[in-house]
Parts: sequence; structure tokens; C-alpha cells
Amino acid sequence: MKKFVVFLVFVVLMAFVVDTVFAAKAKCPQKRKTKKAPSSLYKQDKTAKADAAAGKKIYIKTAKPMACLMCHGKKGDGTGKLGAALTPKPRNFKCKKTMKDVTPGQMFWIIKKGSKGTGMIAQKTLKDKDIWNVIKYIRTKFMK
Ligand code: HEC
Repeated sequence: MKKFVVFLVFVVLMAFVVDTVFAAKAKCPQKRKTKKAPSSLYKQDKTAKADAAAGKKIYIKTAKPMACLMCHGKKGDGTGKLGAALTPKPRNFKCKKTMKDVTPGQMFWIIKKGSKGTGMIAQKTLKDKDIWNVIKYIRTKFMK
């Protein structure tokens, strides 16, 4: 009987370990809940003159109330600490299958307005210029 209890505790612990390991694993392709941006914006791209280094600061540190990294992860694969608790999961920018339809303009729209019904909230403290900078960082760092 005692052995059985020990065995049971072991099984529950293992299930927990497996679960946390898998929760942190990047998924590709991903389910995507976000709607498509209005077509005029969808086609817009102002990243040519944007500053990826300035965008990096926003991504890893200064975005309010939370840095993008908290959800999208340091590697941009959607495995940030906070992201594990969210449904749908934060976007994995490294996943080409999911990102192929996500244009710079689409990213701009969602960063500015947020995506209803998801953890992606509108980034109201970022100016348009900041948004293009962070898009450039994401596209040059994670989407190559
Ligand atoms: C609280 C967690 C959280 C934070 C912080 C966060 N995001 Fe997101 N983000 C999400 C989630 C969740 C989604 C996925 C929504 C979905 O399923 O379409 C998402 C989606 C996106 C998308 C993809 C939109 C699309 O059309 O598929 C972009 C781009 C993005 N986020 C950029 C950012 C940037 C830039 C920041 C920082 C300024 C940021 N996010 C901060 C949770 C977060």
C-alpha cells in the first residue's frame, strides 16, 4: 500500500514536470485569434527608416505596462513567462507558417489597437515612431 502511494505521488509529480516543460515549448503553427487589419493599414510599411536598436529597448524593457518579452519571450518564440498562462498564446514570431500573413502594417495595427479577447493589449504609451521601431526589431531579429 505504502509503495503504491509513493508511486502515485511520483506519477503526479512527473505529470506536472512534463506539463511545465511542454507549456514552455514554442508552438508552430499557432492558432491565431487576431483579426486582419483594415486593408489600407495592412499594406503599410514604414520600417525602412525605423531604428531596430531603439525597438529592442522597447521590446526587452520599456514597453508599459509590460515589456513585450514578458509574453513573446526573449527569443521571440512566444514562450515568455507570462505567456504560459494565456489563451491564446502570445505570437511566436519565429514561426514562418503563422507569420507569413502578418505584414508590418498588420503588426502596427495590433500593437496600437490591441487584439480583443487576447492578452495582447493596446500599447497606448508608444508613439507611432516607437511602434515602427519595435516592428523593425521583431522582423530583423526573429523573422529572418
Ligand atoms: C500580456 C502578454 C503580452 C504582451 C506584454 C505583449 N503581447 Fe503581443 N500578443 C500577445 C498575445 C496573446 C498575442 C496573440 C493573439 C492571437 O492569438 O492572435 C499577441 C500577438 C502579437 C502580434 C501578432 C498580431 C497578429 O496579427 O497576429 C504582434 C505583432 C505582437 N503581439 C507584438 C507585441 C509587441 C511589440 C509587444 C510589446 C510592445 C507585445 N506584443 C506585448 C500577448 C502579449
